[in-house]
Amino acid sequence: MKRMLGVTTVLALGLLATQAQAVKKGDPMRGQELSATCVACHGPDGNSPVPEFPRIAGQYADYMVQAMKAYKTGERNNPIMAGIVASLSERDMEDLAAFFSQQKGDLYNLRLK
Ligand code: HEC
Repeated sequence: MKRMLGVTTVLALGLLATQAQAVKKGDPMRGQELSATCVACHGPDGNSPVPEFPRIAGQYADYMVQAMKAYKTGERNNPIMAGIVASLSERDMEDLAAFFSQQKGDLYNLRLK
């Protein structure tokens, strides 16, 4: 019985590790290259100085990917962002989100609290 528990624990930990890796998708280096088109509005590192453009520095990557997909499908209706995401692939979105989520900003600081 003890051995069974041990095997189950190892399997469970393995599963958790796989899931943790699956969540960490996106290449921030490539995202930084792609971000040239975003910075005019969202600021160089996603810390937009103007309230019209949301700050995305330190935002959760998953959230940003969902937001970008929603602009693409029209579920989230914004003509500016719809035009921006039209040419982005899913991988582009994941890489961009990985980059901006790693930038320091108010949202990032909130996560540390
Ligand atoms: C011309 C200005 C402009 C550019 C360029 C631009 N955005 Fe945006 N972005 C906006 C505006 C305005 C909004 C808010 C739209 C709304 O109200 O939903 C927004 C919203 C977003 C959101 C949702 C933020 C939130 O808090 O929900 C994300 C994520 C985002 N943009 C990512 C990007 C990325 C990545 C790029 C570059 C590929 C980019 N944007 C380029 C203007 C821009």
